[in-house]
Amino acid sequence: MKFAGKFSFLSETPSGKRETILAIREEQRGYEGEIISSHGGCEIMKNVVVTDDSFSCSAMVGPCFQTISIKAVGDGKFEGNIKVVKDDGSVDELVAEDVKFSPKKLRALILYATMTKNTEKIAKAMEESFKHYKWETKLFRMTMKKSDWDGQQDELYFDDYDVICLGSPIVAGYPLTVVNKVFSLGAGGELEKNVQKQVDGGGGFKMTADTMKGDASHFDENGPKPPEGPGGPQGGPPPKEFGAWWRRRNCPYPGGPSGDNYQPLGVVFTTYGGGFFGSNESRATLAALKLFLELNNVTVIGQFACCGKEFGPAGLKEGEKPRLMGPGEIADPIIYDTEDGKITSSYFFHGQPWEHPNDRDVLKAKALICDIVEDMFMTYDGKRAQVCSTYESIS
Ligand SMILES: Cc1cc2nc3c(=O)[nH]c(=O)nc-3n(C[C@H](O)[C@H](O)[C@H](O)COP(=O)(O)O)c2cc1C
Repeated sequence: MKFAGKFSFLSETPSGKRETILAIREEQRGYEGEIISSHGGCEIMKNVVVTDDSFSCSAMVGPCFQTISIKAVGDGKFEGNIKVVKDDGSVDELVAEDVKFSPKKLRALILYATMTKNTEKIAKAMEESFKHYKWETKLFRMTMKKSDWDGQQDELYFDDYDVICLGSPIVAGYPLTVVNKVFSLGAGGELEKNVQKQVDGGGGFKMTADTMKGDASHFDENGPKPPEGPGGPQGGPPPKEFGAWWRRRNCPYPGGPSGDNYQPLGVVFTTYGGGFFGSNESRATLAALKLFLELNNVTVIGQFACCGKEFGPAGLKEGEKPRLMGPGEIADPIIYDTEDGKITSSYFFHGQPWEHPNDRDVLKAKALICDIVEDMFMTYDGKRAQVCSTYESIS
């Protein structure tokens, strides 16, 4: 039997019957996954042992070391038991009740911010490609409205997806504020303000409980504390004032001592005017978006940027002339002939900026996702391919 998927079952706990989920993936070197308990804990499976019809694994779940064994008994039915080694060394043998199995489905989460819907057009194009390959998708527009996030948390854990796409328009050179707010470690918030205030005051910066308020409240003079998020010692996600917890497991930083979280693949994308100096203008935003995903244990392999009609200086209508910063008048734009008809030239970096994202941009975004899906996931053995290449479409 193929065990990639999710087992769920109920078992007795000191606080009554609780649900446990085994989230199992089949990776290059075998099965791996997490044990997710209903109080919010999420631990990496250890000691995974698989036979033709059984799966077992262990982890510290709360204060106890548990070994969970599930056996297929025919007709899509399963039986299971749990061995719980308690603090005092005594062992409880429990029955896993109502064991259910759902085979793994490939899933993509597409997060984006937008002002005038250009970036949304690309987000939807990407979603269409995933759907073409029968993936489950979640498209989520990030806004600064708290109510837009209500009830969304359960669908926003990166742990539950194979690919995470993160997109933003460029605003004054950087991603839109909401993206920085929900992903950066404190940009535009209390931390940044406090650092600047102290540095400008001439005394350098000191980490104290007081200066590390707000976004950085899980730091203090002793360095970073584990955030009290999902899987934290308190168990269960505390309410987030704004945004979401992106990971269930309490080790968000891949460079840290417990950087062993499952790493979905990532794609970052932007639409932008490019009126200042063209496509290189997209690099800073793409780099920031990439960092935001990487901070959350995502392996970013795709980058996409295309022009998006703007309302600033480069947002001229077809044939409209830019205002010059001096005397005189600029020449009329040349009209070029093509097999598909006439094209009015642009005064700015991108051709026909009044039309973007155009069909060609949409096609490129779709193609980038198709390449990633086919190369990385439609493999001869069904296991995700090793990451050894990246995909870039920047125009
Ligand atoms: C306030 C504002 C600031 C912008 N700043 C930049 C910029 O710095 N660089 C750039 O290339 N485009 C800039 N743009 C253009 C947008 O990035 C572009 O139109 C984008 O496609 C908008 O995406 P959206 O429709 O998803 O909001 C700006 C647009 C606005 C409204």
